[in-house]
Amino acid sequence: MIGAKPVQEILMNGLQKLEYRGYDSAGIFVNSARGGRHMVKTVGKIATLASKLTPAADGTMGIGHTRWATNGAPTDANAHPQYSVDERFYLVHNGVITNAAALKAQYLADVPFQSQTDTEVVVQLIAKFVRDDHDTPAAAFYRTLNLLKGSYAFVLADAEDPDTLYAAKNKSPLLIGVGEGAYYVGSDAMAMIDQTKQFIALQDGDVVIMHQDGLTITDLAGDFVHRDEFTAQLDASEISKGTYPYYMLKEIDEQPAVMRRIVDAYLPADGSVSVDPALVQALDQADRLYIVAAGTSYHAGLVGARLFEEVAGLPAEAYLASEFGYHMPLLSQHPFFLLLSQSGETADSREVLVKVKKMGYPVLTMTNTAGSTLSREADYTMLLHAGPEIAVASTKAYTAQIGVQAVLAKALGMYRQQPAANDFALRHQLSIAAAGMQTLVDEKDQIKNLVGQYMPDQHDAFYIGRGADYPLSLEAALKLKEVSYVHTEGFAAGELKHGTIALISEDTPVLAFITDDATAAHTRSNLQETEARGAHTLSIVSEHLAEPTDNIVLPDVDPRLSALVGIIPAQLIAYYTALGKGLDVDKPRNLAKSVTVE
Ligand code: F6R
Repeated sequence: MIGAKPVQEILMNGLQKLEYRGYDSAGIFVNSARGGRHMVKTVGKIATLASKLTPAADGTMGIGHTRWATNGAPTDANAHPQYSVDERFYLVHNGVITNAAALKAQYLADVPFQSQTDTEVVVQLIAKFVRDDHDTPAAAFYRTLNLLKGSYAFVLADAEDPDTLYAAKNKSPLLIGVGEGAYYVGSDAMAMIDQTKQFIALQDGDVVIMHQDGLTITDLAGDFVHRDEFTAQLDASEISKGTYPYYMLKEIDEQPAVMRRIVDAYLPADGSVSVDPALVQALDQADRLYIVAAGTSYHAGLVGARLFEEVAGLPAEAYLASEFGYHMPLLSQHPFFLLLSQSGETADSREVLVKVKKMGYPVLTMTNTAGSTLSREADYTMLLHAGPEIAVASTKAYTAQIGVQAVLAKALGMYRQQPAANDFALRHQLSIAAAGMQTLVDEKDQIKNLVGQYMPDQHDAFYIGRGADYPLSLEAALKLKEVSYVHTEGFAAGELKHGTIALISEDTPVLAFITDDATAAHTRSNLQETEARGAHTLSIVSEHLAEPTDNIVLPDVDPRLSALVGIIPAQLIAYYTALGKGLDVDKPRNLAKSVTVE
């Protein structure tokens, strides 16, 4: 923020508003009115930061940040702001600079570094260009930005110039809040909504220089660009939608933060797993896990079943609640039931719960809704920590269900001393998955363009995949059909040729997931078979398996968690297809958020 009033309290209030995203450290820099500098940063909560802010700074320009570490441990030194060695420039950053190491080696060999962050490379570079080459701070900022590869939302403060704040955006979200005699800049309108309802949404490549009484926006070459102001129409019920046009898009974007919250809730840094020991012991007594759920939650259960088998050595299978309630398979001797339900209110799942409880079997509910029926009536509850999911089409609850099942599988596997569980560094692997998800949501424009080319008014579409990519295909297909009304089927890639390939005709979209090393070549062949029959094919491929002709590349993650990244492009494809057809993305026809009839 830059303005006429002291900024510290407003910055802290903004950081508090973003707490729900999950973070491990926080910091602020405020320029003191008396020309001094005031920077505090710390591992821990905003409350910890607040307790260290005495005496309060009185400056009218400042920046703040909450960080959730992916690379570089959560330490005070790695927290933002990052600052230059001469303590002149202070920078906060969301995103990842992929050529930071190369830039450091090329330009900054003689500069002592204080953190392990890519962000520090950027701020040291700006300071170096000012110090050694006598660039103006603005020139150094532009020059540095033009050297960077990767994603960023930056805000830069110059301690020697309290009437200027610099910002720039590429891929990571950034908004300017326009106040009375003040400007705000933040990654989420929520952080600024107490101060202003007027916003400017920045676009990739925008560079902003703000003073208390005006701002300029240019491209990276320094040429002025115009960005319209808009008024955020936020009422109490919409507030959690922020400036997003639809909850679905917001909830897709929130998924990396949800992964971080799951890590915060269940996976302490010491490598242990924080799950009710009584639950783990009860599960250890079971000879088979029955995962029961509906719709998207069932699809998450299919992914989870593999996790329990591979990580904990517990035989597991997922079932549709609406079938299981009335046609139970022959149960094992010591069954354990896991009910997966975002709402915790789904009637089909409740029916199963009531029946198996009556039979005397233990039940765990994994739900997003504390206090829901399924949560109250089960023996155990684990919360998804996804935050309210408002769009009818489930997105973040699906990935949260996979994340929390992985947590329980890991807890059980460790209890059983399974080598696969001990080797599964879940805290780290979920962090990598969260970073991969972030890259994909940051690059959503690519998906938007693909949808423009591949999905013009189709009647049918297919998702195909093998192994873990098969249940992923089922969920991808459900997403597309429920919001866009394009008839879509998810198929085991090898099964298509046994009948359904008859439906492939000129330009039918066939989308293949290829993340599984063992079957990548087979799935590619299956995709080619459809192409030979006229299909319009699109490949969604893990980075290590990708070829130059592939359409969407997924950042590599632990193969047991591949659905977490794989589903993101599919959710975005569904969203943009529905949007292109002018449909109400959040409220598809015939659907309700929680289905309380059998
Ligand atoms: C699809 C979707 C539904 C739900 C299903 C179960 O996007 O949202 O398929 O997954 O109705 O709901 P919950 O998880 O609340 O039991």
